[in-house]
Amino acid sequence: METWDAIRARRNVRRFSDRPITVADLDRILEAGWRSPSSVNKQRWDFILCTERSQLQELSSHSRWAGHVAGAAAAVALILPHSDDPDVNESLDLDLGQVTISMMLAAADLGIGSCHAALEDQEPVRRLLGYPEDRVCALLISLGYPADRPLAPIKRPKRRPIDEIVHRDHW
Ligand SMILES: Cc1cc2nc3c(=O)[nH]c(=O)nc-3n(C[C@H](O)[C@H](O)[C@H](O)COP(=O)(O)O)c2cc1C
Repeated sequence: METWDAIRARRNVRRFSDRPITVADLDRILEAGWRSPSSVNKQRWDFILCTERSQLQELSSHSRWAGHVAGAAAAVALILPHSDDPDVNESLDLDLGQVTISMMLAAADLGIGSCHAALEDQEPVRRLLGYPEDRVCALLISLGYPADRPLAPIKRPKRRPIDEIVHRDHW
């Protein structure tokens, strides 16, 4: 897909087909995350790729918002340092947004759907994935081919009118 088409086609997909994602495509999505910009280029992130069905099902059980992970072909757990400093957390959140959309657009470019999943219970996920005590799983990204319609540029996305959002020269 062209970049502009991928931007327009990406949507949050929560129901996935059984079609697996090739290793090469998963690697490309992970590489998109690896290439993402981060504050002072600190790259304070790690990615855990999960593809086992039982692991995906268990991950989905640890959050009300992660039901879609159970049926995904894969999920990427985005791991960040734990911090009690609001300034550090603000910069980590910005980094998280960058890496997330990079991976999602790389997936959309391949026709692969994705969805965010916020976690509620950190400890069972830490036991399952084995990341250290000083890290947290900040977000899961589900990946898979859509069960319904394939990704294609969306003519009218559910968004506030663009003229209401874009201000030119002044508010
Ligand atoms: C920071 C963030 C967290 C999100 N967390 C979840 C989540 O936990 N579970 C979920 O199903 N969708 C989650 N979403 C997806 C949003 O609901 C989705 O982007 C929004 O409804 C717009 O959907 P669309 O891009 O398909 O139009 C999250 C999105 C963002 C940006």
